[in-house]
Amino acid sequence: MLSRANSCEFGAADMKTMTCIEDLRQTYHRKVPRAFVDYCESGSYAEQTLRANRADLERIALRQRILHDVSARSTKTTILGEPAALPLVLAPVGLTGMQHGDGEIHACRAAQAAGIPFTLSTMSICSIEDVAATCDKPFWFQLYVMRDRGYIRALIERAAAAKCSALVLTVDLQVIGQRHRDIKNGMSVPPEIRIKNLIDMATKPAWAMSVLFGKRKTFGNIAGHYPGMSSVTVLSKWIAEQFDPALSWKDVEWIKSLWPGKLVLKGILDVEDARIAAKTGAAALVVSNHGGRQLDGAPSSISALPPIAEALGSEIEVMFDGGIRSGQDIMRALALGARSCMCGRAYIYGLGAGGQAGVARAIEIMRNELDISMALTGMRSIGEIDRRAVVAM
Ligand SMILES: Cc1cc2nc3c(=O)[nH]c(=O)nc-3n(C[C@H](O)[C@H](O)[C@H](O)COP(=O)(O)O)c2cc1C
Repeated sequence: MLSRANSCEFGAADMKTMTCIEDLRQTYHRKVPRAFVDYCESGSYAEQTLRANRADLERIALRQRILHDVSARSTKTTILGEPAALPLVLAPVGLTGMQHGDGEIHACRAAQAAGIPFTLSTMSICSIEDVAATCDKPFWFQLYVMRDRGYIRALIERAAAAKCSALVLTVDLQVIGQRHRDIKNGMSVPPEIRIKNLIDMATKPAWAMSVLFGKRKTFGNIAGHYPGMSSVTVLSKWIAEQFDPALSWKDVEWIKSLWPGKLVLKGILDVEDARIAAKTGAAALVVSNHGGRQLDGAPSSISALPPIAEALGSEIEVMFDGGIRSGQDIMRALALGARSCMCGRAYIYGLGAGGQAGVARAIEIMRNELDISMALTGMRSIGEIDRRAVVAM
């Protein structure tokens, strides 16, 4: 059960004045301590790729069409063969439970109520079991493959035991891109005790209460795996050493042999890699640059999408993420060949602004925007959205 402090401080009614993702973002910035806001907003190094994700999406003009009968239209679709209310999945986001206490549970509940999948990160605060025990339906689990393959095998078994409906293997983080602000802020879990962090937290009472009453304050999927590894400092050091530069396509085969369900490969930006991914038997790939947090200087996700979708869209389900902040953005990605999108920051803004109600509002805002954009571009169904929905570039 969620504690009272964590489940009811924000009502859906308070959220009505939040009319766009930008409103949620501004409220999130006011309510959540700076170190966690920076952790969410940052990209790696000079943040060129982070900026390009948004700038390139905004450049795509939607094509206004008139006098089509669009009275009967629907945002419904299928994602990995399962019905979804709109072509959107909540992306895996590490430390979500530090943006709001029990954040993973709130986000999963909001996604399930809205009829879309939620993806739990390996680096979550609430564990696989915490989320499974408090959410009605199956969710997706995201896997980072670490050096300790015994631990990875155990994690996959835990995800299977929790009846996760897809395994999302993230393939773009063999080494970690540096985010300057995280280093400057002494970003850790829980936050490093610095005077400036303490003063900041003291001015964010709703956040402090929610995290205080949250189930956990450390990495839920990792704590307890090794005897004596309960200390956060030891855990963080272990994690940093565990990312594996030797990871290769052979490991994908190995994961496939362990995971009986649907596999999604997340973090593909190049057609050659996408061709190999399609041959692994994975159900889907996600065109993604990790929200601009890994290879700075890499192309924006949206510019990488068309060649991949054109080459492989009939062989493997092509998903997309990077910069989605509106239903119009979802439409742009679908027009350029994605079957569905993931969003990361957009729902974290909602979570920090208003807990579960805030995530629900973020999804509702994007669904409504998608619906209206469909009407104004003359599209009645998600399947109809293709290049005709955008002005030729
Ligand atoms: C704060 C933060 C933490 C993230 N943590 C993870 C993670 O643990 N695993 C993962 O596969 N991707 C992670 N990502 C990447 C997201 O899954 C997703 O690819 C990205 O957020 C998409 O860009 P957007 O935030 O513009 O929607 C993270 C992104 C952010 C912003």
